[in-house]
Amino acid sequence: MNPAIPLQLLGGISADEFLRDYWQKKPLLIRQAIPGFESPLDPDELAGLALEEVIESRIVIEHGKTPWELRRGPFSEETFKELPESDWTLLVQAVDQFVPEVAELLEHFKFLPSWRIDDIMISYAAPGGGVGPHFDNYDVFLLQGHGRRRWKIGQTCDADSPLLQHPDLRILAQFEESQDWVLEPGDMLYLPPRVAHYGIAEDECMTYSVGFRAPSAAEVLTHFTDFLAQFLSDEERYSDAGMSAVKGSEDQHKIQRDALDRLKQLLQEHMSDERLLLTWFGQFMTEPRYPELVAGEEIDDGDLLQALEDGAVLVRNPSARLAWSEVDVGLLLFSSGQSVVLPQSMRELLKLICAADALHQDNLGQWLADEDGRKLLGELVKQGSLEFADE
Ligand code: SIN
Ligand code: CO
Repeated sequence: MNPAIPLQLLGGISADEFLRDYWQKKPLLIRQAIPGFESPLDPDELAGLALEEVIESRIVIEHGKTPWELRRGPFSEETFKELPESDWTLLVQAVDQFVPEVAELLEHFKFLPSWRIDDIMISYAAPGGGVGPHFDNYDVFLLQGHGRRRWKIGQTCDADSPLLQHPDLRILAQFEESQDWVLEPGDMLYLPPRVAHYGIAEDECMTYSVGFRAPSAAEVLTHFTDFLAQFLSDEERYSDAGMSAVKGSEDQHKIQRDALDRLKQLLQEHMSDERLLLTWFGQFMTEPRYPELVAGEEIDDGDLLQALEDGAVLVRNPSARLAWSEVDVGLLLFSSGQSVVLPQSMRELLKLICAADALHQDNLGQWLADEDGRKLLGELVKQGSLEFADE
């Protein structure tokens, strides 16, 4: 796509302009981002998903047993019968993994790296429903799917922003409203991280939240160092060969500057290993939300070839995540938290695997005759990231 072309989705500005002026910086309200948008799911279908064991869902009731009562799914049909007429919200996570028409919405966000996209959460709110004023640590596009919702936005928050005392929900104790809008189906509000927001259903409504993933600095450091440590031997230690003796004028108990420098050097040596850093990052960013849904079966190379030659189609498991990159030794394919190094010659296959809706004899072409190519496909089937489409 050409990032300089104005996009309806972004209210007539280009992806370049959006990224320069708004992304991670300031909110943007877009009227009719998706003109005539009709929610592919109705409220009953969304409630149906919240009955499923594997799908994460929540209900927030403003005046429940406690103020802002949080209930966690899976729910039963009775739960829904007993809910009040107004002032509650049902939120269902990662609906894109279960409803292909919802996943198709992600096509609109091709101007952003796919590995930054987390999921599409869908909320249904009874009139007056909302989850309270709060802030999130990630970017979000709030697309109105059905009915009308009033979105109020406020101050930029941080870890010190006072919250209500609540065991489960992070509701702001103060909300300094700066703007409000009523969104109709097809309207969309982009919010950067940490902007206080408060959505209230004007009438029965559904909102689609396209959320993004960004690891916290603490996650990057703890996870990367855990990953790194696997490759380090116990023998590699802080070392100070050639250090000078404690001089008479110095205190033996003081940790001197040269010790700190040695430590920094040890850290830098490992932290700046780009191959390992990228390997860890790709694995981390492609970890599936529901790993139990990414499970495949071993397939014999001959059977795989036969199936594809007979017209079988491989598709990405909707719960799997794929990405690729390149390092000094070749290409890296990341699939659902795992990685493999591949030669430069497999670049086109890698790109096809990551991007294609379906893999079949026609688009695989010559790769079917390539043993390494088939081996890779077989590995991804075994891992569960690729699966045969149902006939
Ligand atoms: C909602 O859809 O009710 C909540 C979405 C959000 O505020 O992040
Ligand atoms: Co939010």
